[in-house]
Amino acid sequence: MRDIGIGLIGSGYIGKTHAIAYNAHNAVFGGPARPACRALAEIDQAKADREARALGFERGTGNWQDLLIADDIDVIAIATPNALHKEMAIAAIKAGKHVYIEKPLALDAPEADEIIAVHEAQNGASRLVHMLGYNYLCNPIISTVKTMLDSGELGELVHFRGRHNEDYMASPEVPFSWRCSKAAAGTGTLGDMGSHIISMAMHLAGPIVSLCGDTDIVIPSRKDQTGAMRGVENEDQAQAIVRFASGMMGFLETSRVALGKKQGLAFEIVGTKASIEFDQERMNELRLYEGGAPDGRSGFKTILVDTHCPDFSAFCPAPGHGLGYNDLKIIEVNRLMKAIVEDAPVPVDLYAARDIELVIDTWIASAAQRAWQDVGGA
Ligand SMILES: NC(=O)c1ccc[n+]([C@@H]2O[C@H](COP(=O)([O-])OP(=O)(O)OC[C@H]3O[C@@H](n4cnc5c(N)ncnc54)[C@H](O)[C@@H]3O)[C@@H](O)[C@H]2O)c1
Repeated sequence: MRDIGIGLIGSGYIGKTHAIAYNAHNAVFGGPARPACRALAEIDQAKADREARALGFERGTGNWQDLLIADDIDVIAIATPNALHKEMAIAAIKAGKHVYIEKPLALDAPEADEIIAVHEAQNGASRLVHMLGYNYLCNPIISTVKTMLDSGELGELVHFRGRHNEDYMASPEVPFSWRCSKAAAGTGTLGDMGSHIISMAMHLAGPIVSLCGDTDIVIPSRKDQTGAMRGVENEDQAQAIVRFASGMMGFLETSRVALGKKQGLAFEIVGTKASIEFDQERMNELRLYEGGAPDGRSGFKTILVDTHCPDFSAFCPAPGHGLGYNDLKIIEVNRLMKAIVEDAPVPVDLYAARDIELVIDTWIASAAQRAWQDVGGA
């Protein structure tokens, strides 16, 4: 079986999840290729060496540009703060590497367009894979939802309500981090978690064509590393009413200060024949309400993840036994391997990721102007 050499940049929260996924992929899926953890890049050599040892990489480097010239590296995985994605992605594409970039793709849609322009100029003839880290789309039960929607099981879709709310910054004592800085993160909760629920909404229900958004900073300043107070530069919470290309209406919200929500990515889809509900805090189950039940017998039923989905059965032969967050990354890595070796499509490529950035930019502009806006409109 072919080895696909991985060069990972960043070993923080999501970098570790990447490493777990590369190391576990072969045991779970057994092919079609084997991710080989070649080099880990971090901010300095000491940290890179330490993390490379801990996370199962052959070597570490304090200079991410070393990965560009390494012949044993096929994929550059970018797991650094958002502001670094553009420079790293462009350099990787120019070096002829496949790119696996954490969400959000960039600080905004114009930056995403710059990456795409380089990709198009560089890779017109060759076939380099480009995939984003929208791992929640890889949940086997989300594949079940997609099958139900595509087969018309829910009838005509009439409403999508989605949220991705967490409380990791609900306390004013949580210090200022790169996530609060426009220069380092771009947007606040919109790029961080809003991008996930936007990706889910568009994956399941199609493009969002217009919206009326609002944004809000709840905790205006936080202590920085020196103990000095520093102004928070981007939104803590945001909500929008949206219209999909299908004509369906919807509502989206996101928050990093939603006290009590730990992994609150959730949605409800209402159809003319049936409705469904999903909550990532109970990621192995789906709630389904089917119209037409006899009087006194109607209600939601719970469907557990099961072995009919190949992504689930690769982990476990027994239905309902459940997966976890890190398993979604293993499935995502399998999508990457299949894209490289078998030319299979990826869940979110550069173009789909740019469309998510466009929705976020429109949301910010709509909030500033206090008006409906067409997505990508002037
Ligand atoms: N897909 C998901 O579910 C998910 C979850 C969390 C974060 N993310 C995304 O992953 C990215 C990173 O977020 P995080 O939470 O892991 O951040 P983090 O702060 O935990 O980790 C970032 C890492 O990048 C390293 N780094 C910074 N500059 C570097 C450089 N120049 N060269 C090499 N390494 C460098 C830091 O030392 C740190 O270890 C963000 O874009 C974020 O949106 C995605």
